[in-house]
Amino acid sequence: MTVAQIFDSMEYGPAPESAAEAQAWLEAHGRMFGHWIGGAARAGADHFDSRSPADGTLLARIAKGDSDAVEAAVTAARGAQEAWAAHPAKRARALYALARLIQKNARLFAVLESLDSGKPIRESRDIDIPQVIRHFYYHAGMAQIMEEAVPGRVPHGVCGQIVPWNFPLLMAAWKIAPALAMGNTVVLKPAEWTPLSALLLAELSAQAGLPAGVLNVVTGDGETGAALVAAPVDKIAFTGSTEVGRAIRRATAGSGKALTLELGGKSPYLVFDDADLDSAVEGLVDAIFFNGGQVCCAGSRLLVQEGISEDFHARLIRRMQSLRVGDPLDKCIDVGAIVDPVQRDRIAAMVDAGGGTVHRAGGDLPGEGCFYPPTLVTGLSGSDPLMQEEIFGPVLVSTTFRTPAEAVQLANDTRYGLAASVWSENINLALGVAPAITAGVVWINGANMFDAAAPFGGLRESGFGREGGPEGLAAYTRAPHPARQARPIAAVEAPRAGQVRAPALDRTAKLYIGGKQVRPDGGYSRPVWSKKGALLGHAPQANRKDLRNAVEAARAASGWSAMAGHQRAQILYYIGENLSARAEEFAARIAEMTGGSAREAEAEMSVAVDRCFTWAAWADKHDGAARDVPVRGMALALKAPVGVIGQFAPDEVPLAGLISIVAPAIALGNRVICVASEPYPLAATDFYQVLDTSDVPAGVVNILTGPHEELAPQMAGHMGIDAVWSFSGRALSQVIEQESAADLKRSWVSDGMARDWLGPEGQGARFRDEATETRTVWIPYGEGTITAS
Ligand code: NAI
Repeated sequence: MTVAQIFDSMEYGPAPESAAEAQAWLEAHGRMFGHWIGGAARAGADHFDSRSPADGTLLARIAKGDSDAVEAAVTAARGAQEAWAAHPAKRARALYALARLIQKNARLFAVLESLDSGKPIRESRDIDIPQVIRHFYYHAGMAQIMEEAVPGRVPHGVCGQIVPWNFPLLMAAWKIAPALAMGNTVVLKPAEWTPLSALLLAELSAQAGLPAGVLNVVTGDGETGAALVAAPVDKIAFTGSTEVGRAIRRATAGSGKALTLELGGKSPYLVFDDADLDSAVEGLVDAIFFNGGQVCCAGSRLLVQEGISEDFHARLIRRMQSLRVGDPLDKCIDVGAIVDPVQRDRIAAMVDAGGGTVHRAGGDLPGEGCFYPPTLVTGLSGSDPLMQEEIFGPVLVSTTFRTPAEAVQLANDTRYGLAASVWSENINLALGVAPAITAGVVWINGANMFDAAAPFGGLRESGFGREGGPEGLAAYTRAPHPARQARPIAAVEAPRAGQVRAPALDRTAKLYIGGKQVRPDGGYSRPVWSKKGALLGHAPQANRKDLRNAVEAARAASGWSAMAGHQRAQILYYIGENLSARAEEFAARIAEMTGGSAREAEAEMSVAVDRCFTWAAWADKHDGAARDVPVRGMALALKAPVGVIGQFAPDEVPLAGLISIVAPAIALGNRVICVASEPYPLAATDFYQVLDTSDVPAGVVNILTGPHEELAPQMAGHMGIDAVWSFSGRALSQVIEQESAADLKRSWVSDGMARDWLGPEGQGARFRDEATETRTVWIPYGEGTITAS
């Protein structure tokens, strides 16, 4: 082609990045890799091929880790953990050194990543690797200031981390950097299609001075991952598909292992009619075609306002024609290869079976290798699989809306809740819509912005837990363990005939649902006896139907979550005041039920009242923060209520325990369904009279009594409940974690450990974190450069 012809066609010439160094690194290892355990390479038993998706060539043979390899890695990590945790400043230096080494080897990492995953070099060079570096620097700093940043927290111990193939090194960095910074040690399992950059990182970690055993890498497939989940680690962090996330939730249920899951998404991309349309088209190209759409938070569902829909689609289709698909190592390429033929075939099968009108980007695909063209599908209905399911490829689906309310409704019509983009030049509209969308991250006039300082993570079936910022550190630390196992408390048995002391008055309590006292659906009540043989009353036995009614009432009380903290605070103060006025009466009741001394019951009442005041105080103070992210704009980490929380109150301190979990939840905007202490239920049934007189709106607090074991699986499996907390004396942790996997709701369970409800363990930061979700809203801004003189 002559220069004149080039001027005429304006065609790009090839601009290939050299793969020589990366190939040399592979050659230096004989294209054969083992695991990285205890600071050294360890040969594997079985191996599989790792191929370049761009042309199918063999890159290397990779070890397939079995349970022996996993065990060796966990043992090495365990052995190194205590010493690693002991010196924050040494950790910080080692992590800084690692950040610097990655920076020095940035180009090698970028090329290796593109070779292995098929992503364009422009992305691995300009986005993935710089973000990796940023993560290590940021968290090196966090190691240095750990004691101030997360006071009173300790590391979990050994963390098992499982990452996917779409951002192989970046996802590893998101997990490794905070884990190591907080004093944990790590066993990482990279994805089977993309293990190379993690193996290079492991090598560099030794050069950076990370002690042997601090970072271990075991390669392999899903079986290796499952072995790691089953191994004696203290925490599992997983990023990947929702299905595997669900399996991991079930596998770890009741084990006491901490768990964070970052799963799939079907993120909406909302374009209002006052948006800057050309910018919105460019943003959309970034949202859905970045990394070939193999992005958990890809803006894969376009929602465009009806009046501009035709114009917008025409601009989009025109822009798609100019996208260049091809060799990932060519710097002029926009969309690279799909990671593996299996994934390409999965995408093709979904689109082929999906219906609608399919528009594909023009231009030829490379003759060989694993490619899929950028695709837009229109004319689908909301329930079509392509509108609902994660495709994980360069495929955008689209529909229209008329009003902001309809836009929000369509945006939320999915089981996921990872991310969203909102495009409008009206900041009023954009900032109004953003918090109404059920998503962990919302980008205003942008897409795919990430930073180590800004929390990232999902709601609903997109998982739980956050990565980045102080929220991410919370996931890698814990409060020091309570030392004691919980002691089960049985209900007082009925006295033998002849020993019954007649009650002054037989009181049959009721359930409290939707602000009303109601009889239990099954019509059963259980007599509650004092230790001295007096019948204190009857406690209703709630069943599935009562639970359902309570959920309905709680869901209907959504106005509470929208209310300002200032207003909620006043109601909590009022509860405290009213409770205080009846403290003597409640104390007498508690003493009768538990057989404890009057002084103990008074102490419990004093804590119960105090908790109301404490959480009233917090109602308007658990606020978010603007995070220092390196973009022109800001990232707000907002705190939002979780929604409807199901709770099992502790058995031992029947009123202070119940209030210790109900008060923080409602103070921070949630509605609750709380099942009272099983052996001592009557304090709770008296408590609803206090709620009645304290202006608590109907449905905000619902109180059930009855068998915890029977209600636990129903509560954990109920789709109308967003989180379950259990401090029951019964062993419910496993069943709750198991059943909550159905819709991946959050759970906070006691794991059979005791908690001192009357001391500081009965309140604190963990309660605030469990009662809220962090939602990150990115707001880029600025017109040109405006500086103050
Ligand atoms: P995957 O969820 O199976 O793989 C992710 C990681 O989990 C890999 O390291 C894998 O080896 C490991 N793994 C697989 N089974 C496991 C198990 N039972 N226990 C522990 N670890 C296990 O994802 P896959 O099969 O590669 O992709 C399937 C679909 O999942 C994609 O089409 C996409 O829709 C979705 N996906 C979503 C991701 C996200 O970031 N949200 C990432 C990867 C895939």
